[in-house]
Amino acid sequence: HRPGGRIDFANVSFAYEGAAGEPVLKQINLTCLPGETVGIIGSTGSGKSSLVSLVPRFYDASSGEIRVDGVNIRQLDPAKLRDRIAIVPQNTILFSGTIEENLHWGNEHATREEIEQAATMAQAHSFIVGFPEGYGTRLGQKGVNLSGGQKQRLSIARALVRKPDILILDDCTSALDTATETEIKKSLKVFASGVTCLIIAQRITSVMDADKIVVMDDGEIVGIGTHEMLLESCKVYVEICQS
Ligand code: GTP
Repeated sequence: HRPGGRIDFANVSFAYEGAAGEPVLKQINLTCLPGETVGIIGSTGSGKSSLVSLVPRFYDASSGEIRVDGVNIRQLDPAKLRDRIAIVPQNTILFSGTIEENLHWGNEHATREEIEQAATMAQAHSFIVGFPEGYGTRLGQKGVNLSGGQKQRLSIARALVRKPDILILDDCTSALDTATETEIKKSLKVFASGVTCLIIAQRITSVMDADKIVVMDDGEIVGIGTHEMLLESCKVYVEICQS
C-alpha cells in the first residue's frame, strides 16, 4: 500500500452555517500520522462527526487549516481528495441490488477477488457465502433481510474495496459484538497497515487499542493519548470509562 494519509488540523474552528451560538468545533489541533489508528471518543454532540466531516470537505472549517500530506485541503482537487478517503457513516446506506453491486459502489474497477478480500477483512465473507446466491444475493425490498450488524459489515467492506489512504469509521460498529469488531480491527492492522484510520466510537473497547485516542468534549479536544495515559490524565476519559 502506498504511504500517505497524514492529516493535520491546525487551529481549526467550525460552525454550521446559520447556526446560532458557539461553534461546534473550537481550536482543534491534531495530527494523525500515516498508518496510524486514531480513536475519537466523547459524549453525544461533542463534535466527533463534525470533525471528521471536514476532512473530505463535506464542510469547510470556519477558521484554521486542515492539511493532508502537508497540503492545505482547500488547494487540492476535491474529487482527488475524496478519492483517497472512505467514510463509513453511522447509518448504513445499501441500495436494492446484489451484494456484489453494493460492494462495487465507489470502485467499479475492483475485481471479484478484491471484493472478496475486502469482505473477508470486514468479517462479511462467511455470511455472504452462506446465502444460496452468495455475492449475487439481492438486497432491498424483494431481497434478503440483513441484520444491523451484517449491514454494517457490508458498509465497511464497501469502504475497503475503495482502497483508501484514509479510512473513517463513524460509529459504524455499534451493532457488532465485541468479538466481531476485534476481528475486523485485527485484519485492518494486517491488510490495511498503511491506511490512516479514524475510528469514532461510543464504547471504550472500540478504541482502547488505538495508537492514540482523542477525547472530545463540547467541541474541544480535552485529551490525546493512549488508554493508559488518558486514564492518568483526562477526567472526561475516566468518566466515559466509568459510564
Ligand atoms: P454523536 O454522533 O451523537 O455521537 O455526536 P457527535 O459527537 O458526532 O457530534 P456532531 O458532530 O454530530 O454534533 C456536534 C454539534 O453540531 C451538535 O450540537 C449538533 O447538534 C450540531 N450539528 C450536527 N450536524 C449539524 C448540521 O448539519 N447542522 C447544524 N446546524 N448543526 C449540526
